[in-house]
Amino acid sequence: MKLAAGIQPETLTALIALVREHTGIAMSERKSVLLEGRLRPRMQALEIASYQAYLDKVVKDRNEVPHFIDLVTTNDTVFFRTPQVWDYVEQEFLPQWQRDHAGNTLKVWSAAASSGEELYSMAILCEEFKAVTPAFTYQIYATDISQQILAQARAGRYAGRSVERIRASHPEWVKKYFQASTHGLQIVDALKKHVELAQHNLLTPLKQPKQFDLVFLRNVLIYFDQEHQQTVLQQVRHSMAPHARLILGESESISGLDTACHFDRPMIYRLEK
Ligand SMILES: C[S@@+](CC[C@H](N)C(=O)[O-])C[C@H]1O[C@@H](n2cnc3c(N)ncnc32)[C@H](O)[C@@H]1O
Repeated sequence: MKLAAGIQPETLTALIALVREHTGIAMSERKSVLLEGRLRPRMQALEIASYQAYLDKVVKDRNEVPHFIDLVTTNDTVFFRTPQVWDYVEQEFLPQWQRDHAGNTLKVWSAAASSGEELYSMAILCEEFKAVTPAFTYQIYATDISQQILAQARAGRYAGRSVERIRASHPEWVKKYFQASTHGLQIVDALKKHVELAQHNLLTPLKQPKQFDLVFLRNVLIYFDQEHQQTVLQQVRHSMAPHARLILGESESISGLDTACHFDRPMIYRLEK
């Protein structure tokens, strides 16, 4: 089967609209080569020869939508991405939270969790904190729009770039929280038991809203236009406890948006309800 050379302009416009409709992601028309590269393997597997025919399939066949979402989302992540965030969590957030909320369970939401490196980084810091503060308890809720990437997070198997930093900076954590497996490193069950994973689109309300103390919303707002950033922030805010902290990615800011979250320091915001 020979694939069509490139996406025709009208098909590209319609595909970009479909990406926005299903994920909120604002894709630029300049990204057509990227989009072609992502859709091509799926089209080949389905023996669909033109981008327009694939577009028609996504529109008509609801079962194709999750595959389409898996293809158009960008899932780059690593353990302990942006070290200063983790220094803040370890040295300031956790001790302060425990002082203010002794007896409660810390509730964390990794809101665009991708393959799980962020949520297991948090679980490692919580375990380390628990080792010196036995009364401390925690739960991590992790969501992503992509079913495929959530399956990877659930499996908890890591190799290559994802674990380079933690291997170099904390080999003792690698020994303690991972088991060697044929695929690389496998997260131990002691961490997994604190974690719940679920599929969730950030543009919609959480099915079971909780009051989270700490929300990681990192490296996902950059994919949305301002209107959708505002929607996401409104939804996330409803699931934040009154004292909660919100953590964004390095290149993200919410200063232009109407939100109850106030700047605390770069990347860290606090909710004032
Ligand atoms: C680049 S990863 C960020 C991973 C991690 N938070 C980090 O900072 O390393 C962005 C993630 O956002 C997810 N995503 C994109 N649109 C989303 C939406 N509307 N709702 C929920 N997750 C979404 C993608 O599937 C992807 O896994």
